[in-house]
Amino acid sequence: MACPFTTSNLASAIVLLSAKPADPLERQGKDIIHLEIGEPDFDTPTNVVESAVGALHKGWTHYGPSAGLPELRLAIAEYVSRTRSVPVSSDEVVVVPGGKPIIFFSILALADVGDEVIYPNPGFPIYESMINYVGARAVPIQLREERDFGLDVNEFASLINDRTRLIILNSPQNPTGGVLNKKEIHDIADAIGDRNIMVLSDEIYSRLIFEGEHFSIMSIPGFKERTILLGYGVMRADLAAHMTRLMTNSNSCTASFTQIAGVEALRGDQSSVDRMRDEFMRRRDAFVLGLNSLKGFSCRMPKGAFYAFPNTTGTEWPSKKLADALLEDAGVACLSGTAFGDFGEGYLRFSVANSLENLTKALERMGQWGAKNL
Ligand SMILES: Cc1ncc(COP(=O)(O)O)c(C=O)c1O
Repeated sequence: MACPFTTSNLASAIVLLSAKPADPLERQGKDIIHLEIGEPDFDTPTNVVESAVGALHKGWTHYGPSAGLPELRLAIAEYVSRTRSVPVSSDEVVVVPGGKPIIFFSILALADVGDEVIYPNPGFPIYESMINYVGARAVPIQLREERDFGLDVNEFASLINDRTRLIILNSPQNPTGGVLNKKEIHDIADAIGDRNIMVLSDEIYSRLIFEGEHFSIMSIPGFKERTILLGYGVMRADLAAHMTRLMTNSNSCTASFTQIAGVEALRGDQSSVDRMRDEFMRRRDAFVLGLNSLKGFSCRMPKGAFYAFPNTTGTEWPSKKLADALLEDAGVACLSGTAFGDFGEGYLRFSVANSLENLTKALERMGQWGAKNL
């Protein structure tokens, strides 16, 4: 099969995955503030690091079962049962190294040439590139700023048809910071009805919510059986068996010592998660206030994750050109909204995974750039 990656979505994926795209400018001596990176700037909590180091010393350096160590599968099953209010057992959990293998394996297992997959746009670009890769049809559902980056459920319902195999949801959302509330999730579930369509529910940011509570479609009666929970690798046992085979054929297994640390991360002291969330919220408040004072920018208050997604149409600059200019002229690295799909035109994505001091400095630089160029 010819590789159907398009250059644009592959390029988006590469921009998102390279640690520091601005590095060539830094090598020329330019000072860059990095607000493009989608990864928390906090170190892994000490109890988790110590657990990993202890596991290495105890010899957890060998292959383990492809589906994951029984201790971690049980810890995940218990955690998800408690937080999603549905009974989950260990054989419904597949441990994989990171989030992307679940995206890759779900699409590979469920979508074929000619099938359709509905996915959020703007959204995490790997969805679209993986759907294209398997030769399925990528059907975007537009996230709308006027709905706080939620979706229009009638529009969503109109996209579902007999060829729809998979629906991807993501809340809290990358890149918009939008959070789907309980009513919106129920409306989405009603639109899907009792059709035999799987839902890949990407909930990797579920602990980073600033307003309201996280709600999963998995908690709605009749949906546990049709949901693949991304963030924890939870799915029906028969599907888990297929995913496990894909793990055997690709990664063998997830590194054993990191799984021991995973048990500690789920069962040990949770205060570091609250501290991170509180700090992200403090930065979000200050940064969004600052963005809204910039000429041509307007930004909704994100309700979760650690991103701000301002509308920049008031600058009259296309997003990519604006992101490039901010990098080259102002020394502020961010991502063009178009890195997240066509409906990202008119927006930029900033990550607040940087210190308040650097966020403030970035705002000052952007303000000065705007005074000269807008
Ligand atoms: C919404 C979303 N899903 C999945 C992932 C992938 O996670 P990982 O880096 O663990 O593969 C990311 C990473 O940025 C993300 O933002």
